Amino acid sequence: MEVADSLLDLVGGTPIVRMDRIGRDLSCHLLAKLEYLNPGGSVKDRPALSMILAAEADGSLQPGGTIVEPTSGNTGVGLAMVAARRGYRCIFTMPDKIAEEKRQLLRAYGAEVVICPTVAHDHPDSYTEVAARLAASTPGGYLPNQYENPNNQAAHVATTGPEIWRQTAGRITHLVSTIGTGGTITGIGHYLKSMNPDIQIIGADPEGSVYSGGTGRPYLVEGIGHDYWPGNYDRTVADRVIEVSDRDSFLTARRVTREEGILVGGSCGTAVWAALQLGRDLGPDAVVVVVLPDSGRGYLSKVYDDGWMADHGFLRAGGDTIEAVLAHKGADLPPLIHIHPEETVRAAISVLREYGVSQMPVVRAEPPLRLAEVVGTVSDRALLETVLGEPAMMDEPVAKVMGPPLPMIGTGEPVDAAAKRLGDASAVLVLDGGHPTGIVTRSDLLDYLAGIER
Ligand SMILES: Cc1ncc(COP(=O)(O)O)c(C=O)c1O
Repeated sequence: MEVADSLLDLVGGTPIVRMDRIGRDLSCHLLAKLEYLNPGGSVKDRPALSMILAAEADGSLQPGGTIVEPTSGNTGVGLAMVAARRGYRCIFTMPDKIAEEKRQLLRAYGAEVVICPTVAHDHPDSYTEVAARLAASTPGGYLPNQYENPNNQAAHVATTGPEIWRQTAGRITHLVSTIGTGGTITGIGHYLKSMNPDIQIIGADPEGSVYSGGTGRPYLVEGIGHDYWPGNYDRTVADRVIEVSDRDSFLTARRVTREEGILVGGSCGTAVWAALQLGRDLGPDAVVVVVLPDSGRGYLSKVYDDGWMADHGFLRAGGDTIEAVLAHKGADLPPLIHIHPEETVRAAISVLREYGVSQMPVVRAEPPLRLAEVVGTVSDRALLETVLGEPAMMDEPVAKVMGPPLPMIGTGEPVDAAAKRLGDASAVLVLDGGHPTGIVTRSDLLDYLAGIER
C-alpha cells in the first residue's frame, strides 16, 4: 500500500511548478518551489521537525517534555504538528497584536498560547523573554530557538537544497528566497553552492529590514525581515539582496494568485517581485527557482481583503480619491505635520499654531513614516482643556496627554469613504502604500467638495 506511517514522513518533497504567466515577459525560466504544500502549510515544517528530532537525539527533549517557543506563525504550526504526533506539550508565547485567528490555529493542535504585551524584544515582559523564562522554569522544558538553532538551516541543507538540485537536474542558475530567521536561504544556499559555486543566491527583503540595509523600521509583510542579525543567517550566502516595498509584495502576491492560480502569502509576493526584477536581465539559459514559503489562506483578512488593502493605500478606486483632497490642500504645508511623544505640550501647541492646523499625529520617527510608528494624536481642543485644568502640564511630554491614533484611509479610496470613516473623529490619517503621508480633516473635505481654495 502507498501509505505514509505518519504525517511527519510527508514533510518535504514539495513540487516545483513553472510560473509562465506571471513570467511571460521574461526570457529565463521562472520556477516556484511550493512550500505551502508541506503538511503544516509552510516551509517551516522542515526546521520544526529537524529541531525536534535533534533535541530528542541529544537528550535536550525527553519523553513527556514541553516545547516552548516565541512564535506567532508558521514555525508554531510546524512545532505544534510535530508535538501532537510525538506526544509533547507545547507552549507558544506571542505579542498581543497577533490576530485571534492565529492563536486559534495553534490551540487547534492542542498548544497553549501565552499572550504578552508588545514591548521591545529585550524587555522582561516581551514574548521572547517570557518564552525563555517559561522554558527554564517548566520541568522538561525545551526552547528550540529557531533564530539561533543550527538544525533550522540544517533541515534545508539536508532536504530543500537537494530537492531543488534534483528537480532542476542541476540546471538551476539562480535561487530567490525571502529571509526570516535566515534558515531557508542559508541552508539551500550552502547546499547549492557546494554542488555548483556559480549558482547565484538572491535574498528578497522588506524595505526597513536589516538584511537589505535597513535599520529595522517596521513594515507590514509578515514572517520575514528582521531588526537584528540572527545566528541562522549567514551574511556571506547571498550574492545580492533585493529590497521590496510592502506595496510590491502585496500586489505581486495577488497577481500570482490570480494569474497562476497559486494562492500565496505576502512573503511569496516579496520573493516573486524580486525574481521578476532579477529575471529582466537574464537570458533563456537561466533557471530561476523562487521559494514560496506559505499559502494565502492565512492572509484572507489582509492581503486578500480589498477593504484592508484600500485602507492602507495599496489599492486605487476610480473617480475622485483622497489623493485629490490632499493635493487640494495646497503645497504650502509640509506633507505630514507631526510631533514626537517626548516633546512637550508647549512644543506641540507651537507646532499647531505655526502651521494653523488643529490636530496632528504623534510619531516616534521621521517621515517617510511606517504605520507602526504612529503612536497617538494631539488636538488643539484637547491640549487646551488639559492646560486650562492643569497649567503645569505645559512642560510635560506629549506622550502623557495624547489621544489614540486617528482612523485611517488609503490615498486611493473614494472621497465619500472619508466622510464615513471620519465618524466622530475630526480627521483621518492618510496612508499610501502602507506609509502615513498626510491627514485630511472634516474642513479639508468640505473645502474640496465645495471647490474652495484656501
Ligand atoms: C511567511 C514566511 N515567509 C518566509 C519565512 C522565512 O523563512 P526563514 O525563517 O527560513 O528565513 C517565514 C518564516 O520565518 C515565514 O513565516
